[in-house]
Amino acid sequence: MNEQSNPSAAERVEKLQGMGSCRKRVEDARFTQGKGNYVDDIKLPGMLFGDFVRSSYGHARIKSINKEAALAVPGVVAILTADDLKPFDLHYMPTLAGDVQAVLADEKVLFQGQEIAFVVAEDRYAAADAVELVEVEYEELPVLVDAFKAMDEDAPLLREDIKDKMDGAHGPRKHHNHIFFWEEGDKEGTNKALENSDVVVEELIYYPRVHPNPLETCGCVASMDKINGKLTIWGTFQAPHAVRTVVALITPLEEHNIRIISPDIGGGFGNKVGVYPGYICAAAASIVIGVPIKWVEDKIENLTSTAFARDYHMTGKIGATKDGIITALDCHVLADHGAFDACADPTKFPAGFFSICTGSYDIPIAHCGVDGVYTNKAPGGVAYRCSFRVTEAAYMIERMIDVLARKLEMDPAELRMKNFIKKEQFPYTSALGWEYDSGDYHTAMNKALDAVDYKALRTEQLENRAAFERGNSRSLMGVGVAFFTEIVGAGPVKNCDILGLGMFDSCEIRIHPTGSATARLGTISQGQGHATTFAQILATEIGLPAENITVEEGDTDTAPYGLGTYGSRSTPVAGAAAAMAGRKIRAKAQMIAAYLLEVHDDDVEWDIDRFQVKGNPEKFKTMQELCFAAYNQAIPGLEPGLEAVSYYDPPNMTYPFGAYICVVDIDVDTGVVDVRRFYALDDCGTRINPMVIEGQIHGGLTEALAIAMGQEIAYDDLGNVKGGSLMDFFLPTAVETPEWETDHTTTPSPHHPIGAKGVGESPNVGGVPAFSNAVNDAFAHLGLTHTQMPHDHWRVWKTAQRLGITG
Ligand code: CDP
Repeated sequence: MNEQSNPSAAERVEKLQGMGSCRKRVEDARFTQGKGNYVDDIKLPGMLFGDFVRSSYGHARIKSINKEAALAVPGVVAILTADDLKPFDLHYMPTLAGDVQAVLADEKVLFQGQEIAFVVAEDRYAAADAVELVEVEYEELPVLVDAFKAMDEDAPLLREDIKDKMDGAHGPRKHHNHIFFWEEGDKEGTNKALENSDVVVEELIYYPRVHPNPLETCGCVASMDKINGKLTIWGTFQAPHAVRTVVALITPLEEHNIRIISPDIGGGFGNKVGVYPGYICAAAASIVIGVPIKWVEDKIENLTSTAFARDYHMTGKIGATKDGIITALDCHVLADHGAFDACADPTKFPAGFFSICTGSYDIPIAHCGVDGVYTNKAPGGVAYRCSFRVTEAAYMIERMIDVLARKLEMDPAELRMKNFIKKEQFPYTSALGWEYDSGDYHTAMNKALDAVDYKALRTEQLENRAAFERGNSRSLMGVGVAFFTEIVGAGPVKNCDILGLGMFDSCEIRIHPTGSATARLGTISQGQGHATTFAQILATEIGLPAENITVEEGDTDTAPYGLGTYGSRSTPVAGAAAAMAGRKIRAKAQMIAAYLLEVHDDDVEWDIDRFQVKGNPEKFKTMQELCFAAYNQAIPGLEPGLEAVSYYDPPNMTYPFGAYICVVDIDVDTGVVDVRRFYALDDCGTRINPMVIEGQIHGGLTEALAIAMGQEIAYDDLGNVKGGSLMDFFLPTAVETPEWETDHTTTPSPHHPIGAKGVGESPNVGGVPAFSNAVNDAFAHLGLTHTQMPHDHWRVWKTAQRLGITG
């Protein structure tokens, strides 16, 4: 009989704060008290500062660079140009997409803001002063900013460095500005099915170039310890281990002598996946000079040079019977990748997971093709709160479904319901080859429609239109319905790698004798609350309170190898690794418990936080007792200690989904769109922390609002960036942000150890089409089929003007 008092099962569950509990975020204690430790907080003795001279032109030849005046600025130590990097073969770097990118412009510049020279100085002010004094003489070249003109016969040659290399990383190139053509599905069959369809609609849908724009910009501190031969880089890295391997591959340093540390990160959203010239220049300068070098970009540099997202011109074609059964989908994308192909996608997927574009619908046959082209714009193509182009795919199909509904004069929600993949069809293989793990779309959609009283909304809309017609109202009501299926959790390794690095993830748990634990993972939180939620998974799996489990990420010297955090992969992959490592701990604890309870291993069973003798729950050993025994009691046949590591290669991705409904009122005389209501139902399988999920949804919806309603990194014909500062790039504040109503259903993933799917990106994926559908819906009765994003006041007003309804 155990001497300890025995709290009730409910009390024990409560104490663990495991999965399903709304545990408060542990990280917030330091973030809200100014105790976060970000890259720019790193200050090392003797540290120097780097800053870039950047191109003023979109396309120009560099005739000369004069550093003389800049070098005379007190405190300036060195100014690097491409010529200085050439001896080390560092003037070009590999991109994540199999291309190369100039670290410092070599003889010509290809986009405004491109890095030309790296000034190193004793403080950042001297560096900034010197940047101003570096004289670059340019010879302007014809600029290409229109992706549709990239493959014209007379289009200017952008990439002289690869002009004769017609075999690209993803197959043959058709033109000097062509990067790749990638396709999936049955083109011929799809064409036939479209020809035989009662109804076919076609639309060019543009997803504008936007930017993740995290609060903290990109930066690093590189510190070469020449005596010990060790290079340490603190950086804003979403994948620190991958960075370590890449550094080992492009420098003479051995991987064990490279330490990459991602400290606290102030938002990533895909912006911090890529490799940027600042990292290479800081590391190169530190290796040469032998002192730590810090480089931190400012907001304008962030917006104009490190990463962009989307920029997809998508022509969708969808066929259906006259009753609204979809027969086929075809889509062609013209993808504007900017001056270098630096897209962050798994190697085999140059257009990411765009082929998820059949969405949530049981479409019998489909085809999609993507042409990537170079233009005089910044490189990037990152997955901005997105799993490798799923956001573009979801936007295309959700707009197309609305366009089709209009053509069929059918309610858009009804058309969706008619074509949804049915619950009993899961696991479902889509026409483009993805195996959706689980889903119950009809239940989710019905719940959403009921929650907002959809029928009443449509009745109100009819009344509103009648009142508008009569001249009794100057605003139009729009109801946007969107239903999305996400694809998150890359790997599996057999399909997904980045630069040859397999996309598994990992968790290592070290249990301490007194019943606490340290868990380390290959991922890295950028605000998602991993320290809170991964401890919850472990609390449930190993029966120790979450508050006794410290989660560490982001230091390659201590964390097990993993591929990092982006594409909502942390929960599907590292979360699974955590559960599996926890189960290894529990398996050993079971043997210890059986020995201590003097029964066979099979005669003990797990109960919340303990092993008890089967049929005799009074006889038990708590996990805390077992932790102590693991270290301090000689157990025949067992090594002392209690540790485990799991490297998890997921068998499939997970497919979260959701039903979003947005109601807007548009003032046709000003173009102001008032979001009256936004309802978001998400299904991310097993929910680890409902409160954290809600926070993720709120943040993602706010980003979706920003994208749909105002964000765009546009270029003028000369290649000048028009949306390059926060004066021009829409960043919603509390004033513009509506109330979010959140809801959920729970359809666990059958292959994930705890049934969880990712969630962080869902609101961005589903939110953008919901907003856009709402704006388009407001004008639908006037014959409008599709109007492009962003739906800012000016463009919405222009739409109203085109329709002849402005005052
Ligand atoms: O990879 P990333 O962390 O951006 O995305 P995620 O896996 O979707 O997780 C975002 C946050 O939501 C993490 O703190 C997760 O633990 C939490 N989450 C959850 O509580 N339950 C889920 N089913 C999925 C995510």
